[in-house]
Amino acid sequence: MREFEFYLPTRVLFGRGAVENIGKETAKLGKSALIATGQASARKTGLLKRVGDSLKKSRVKTTLFEGIEANPSLETIKKGTELAKEKECEVIIGLGGGSPMDAAKGIAVLSTNSVPLTNYFGRNKVKEAPLPIIAVPTTAGTGSEANPYAALTNTDKVPPRKEILMDLSIFPKVALVDPELTLSLPASVTADTGIDAFSHALESYLSNRSRPLSEALASEAIRLLVCYLPKVMRNLKDINARSYTLYASLLAGMAIAQSGTILVHGMSYRLTTDLGLSHGKACAILLPVVSEFNLSQGHPKLISLSRCLGESTEDLTTKEIVKKVITRIENLIRELGLPQNLKTRKVGKELIAEFAQELMQNKPKLANNPRSVTLKDVIEMYEKALWGEE
Ligand SMILES: [Fe+2]
Repeated sequence: MREFEFYLPTRVLFGRGAVENIGKETAKLGKSALIATGQASARKTGLLKRVGDSLKKSRVKTTLFEGIEANPSLETIKKGTELAKEKECEVIIGLGGGSPMDAAKGIAVLSTNSVPLTNYFGRNKVKEAPLPIIAVPTTAGTGSEANPYAALTNTDKVPPRKEILMDLSIFPKVALVDPELTLSLPASVTADTGIDAFSHALESYLSNRSRPLSEALASEAIRLLVCYLPKVMRNLKDINARSYTLYASLLAGMAIAQSGTILVHGMSYRLTTDLGLSHGKACAILLPVVSEFNLSQGHPKLISLSRCLGESTEDLTTKEIVKKVITRIENLIRELGLPQNLKTRKVGKELIAEFAQELMQNKPKLANNPRSVTLKDVIEMYEKALWGEE
């Protein structure tokens, strides 16, 4: 059995109505809080009012920072930080999907550390302890509520780049994980975020940095997501299925906190910044090709992965098992109504070569990937994902 270290300093309160604890939990950490949230949904659903009421009841002074965009930019983080400093906030609450939670992490860091935030991109570069973070996810996807990552857009670069701030100090102090908050998500967001959670689980499971505990979390997340994501898509108000998908995305977030992600996420970033694809769609079109690349020559976990996906392997050759696994992943993507490749020739060879060359510089992602990869391999995978099979 392999050695491992497991660090997870986030207190998780999971269950229907968990969000009602926000006042009480925030008051333990400070007297004033900044609520970082997205464009409109928290206000529309009445969640913002519920959170505000709970904080008021616990005598926490609140400042609202609304309108955080997808893949938040450095300017957004700067604006949020200025507001947090002006209002002397002691706690940062990330309320929403991955973007508000990741923005909250950026704001928490910049509130106690000098600019620019890009100084802290990479791994464990934050100097001063950030303000405490409370995460309240409203989507079942990112797992940001229980991991030390913030995916932000580095707008100092041309074109802007999606980059990762990873620091053990940005694990949220508390995660309030409430399945009822996901009930109002439309099908498109449910699918988009759901495939992100699935990708986290699968990538973590296959990562070279996976360890017994992260494997346990990832395999359970895979098992739950293939079962419950299609159920949620059939009935968006199915609270039982919503609960299991949110739980699975939490597990997958915890898993990647230990193992990191592999090539699917590594290759997805430029598809978002340059082609405007949502994070989930970018993962969806890459998942089949990258999985096939990683598994086609066999993998020590191929059989156990296949079982997690609900597929029997009896009397099958490695090739047949790989085919079954890929078909199962493709079927899940189809059930979610997501594309399996873009079938577009609009993205030319030159741009693909640029994406691939940049990926080859991402040494941590390459080191995590279970099969070693060449520039030619990456170009071929991008071509298949973007152009479709010839
Ligand atoms: Fe992701």
